Amino acid sequence: MLMTRNYLDEMLLQADIIDAQYRKAVEQLLAANMADSEPRSSLFSIMKGVFPGDLLQYKPELKGAWATPQGPSIPTYYPELHALNYEWYFTTQTAENLVQEFVSPHGLTVCLGTPTVASAAVRKDKNIILVDQNPAILARFPGLSWSSELHLMNAADAGRLSLKADALIFDSPWYLGDILAWLAASSCLVRPGGTIVFALYPSLIRPTAQLERDFVLEVASAIGDVKIMEDSLAYETPLFEAEALKACGFSFVGEWRRGDTVVIQDTRPLKLSLPNLPSRSEVDGQWESFLIGSQVLKLRAKTQQESTRHFQSFLEPVGESFAFASVSVRHDRRNEADLWTSRNRVAKTRDRNTLRSILRQLQAGVTLHDALAPHANTLGLAGEDQMRAILLLEN
Ligand SMILES: C[S@@+](CC[C@H](N)C(=O)[O-])C[C@H]1O[C@@H](n2cnc3c(N)ncnc32)[C@H](O)[C@@H]1O
Repeated sequence: MLMTRNYLDEMLLQADIIDAQYRKAVEQLLAANMADSEPRSSLFSIMKGVFPGDLLQYKPELKGAWATPQGPSIPTYYPELHALNYEWYFTTQTAENLVQEFVSPHGLTVCLGTPTVASAAVRKDKNIILVDQNPAILARFPGLSWSSELHLMNAADAGRLSLKADALIFDSPWYLGDILAWLAASSCLVRPGGTIVFALYPSLIRPTAQLERDFVLEVASAIGDVKIMEDSLAYETPLFEAEALKACGFSFVGEWRRGDTVVIQDTRPLKLSLPNLPSRSEVDGQWESFLIGSQVLKLRAKTQQESTRHFQSFLEPVGESFAFASVSVRHDRRNEADLWTSRNRVAKTRDRNTLRSILRQLQAGVTLHDALAPHANTLGLAGEDQMRAILLLEN
């Protein structure tokens, strides 16, 4: 088992120290970048992944500084992107740069959870195999049907595909369990001497991020020669995140999110056994998806705590309103959410079965009025108002 330092134990045993160090690092970085008094438009991009809404704890006056909209508009996708699908897409420029620099010119490249890169590469007639578990990518990027192969599967299991690519590019959900599992799978999918390129989250995305990064890079260096390009990956701000920022009091803050590119050259198979950490989706639990218009709605499968919960109404906000001010797993009330939309509206419900049957009807194209009709006695007008609010429908 790999562990020159026992990162995982350190994370558990020293949580308070790590939290204090994290706060200090954020304060120092913020102070260094606010030194010239006027916040620069790029401030959020150089904060090493601190969510702009979280920065308000450190500097509440930042809210006023972003009162006017700026930057490019929010891209639209059909179906919309969802936080619970971990869908943060690269900007067009970043996807094209990755194709230019890392897709094999004449050999085979595997794209693992990188549909925008695969799509840009297919447009340039490159030989691409895409692995991604979300079938919605085909509607969003129809050109992907021209890739040599598309595998709709869990990337952590992709190592069993018998492939030996020249290059592989991956961007997993930004959690330690996922990135390690994807790294292990990647090392099976490239030929010895090939290249693996992946997105690594910045050091202040959460208190343990620096330790996690150290661990990931140690594993990467057991696969080949490692090079890091900091802040080189730019991401679009997805609609769900723009809505979370709005709920924090920010109008659109531009394409603020950055990641590092890690390149592993001259790869060899990974011989280490890695700790078996849960993936983010295992921690998030099971959700059923519904497509209503262009919105994706996720309904949580039954939880154990359900019987102990008390409700005044059919749908209730988890935060101050249905507009949820976070996309982060660190938000302490995220676990209460039963329903989560791609426009970051979040609610808990006292009656999951009724909600499921209404969502099924809406997905089938039935109007809200007709979908609610069989439940009129129990839900009344308040229930209809709540459904309109969560779906952002006009009254
Ligand atoms: C963080 S996003 C990265 C997208 C990338 N930045 C791009 O622009 O193409 C993660 C991608 O992996 C996919 N995904 C998430 N979890 C997955 C899993 N366990 N197996 C396969 N694909 C997964 C999502 O559908 C999404 O396309």
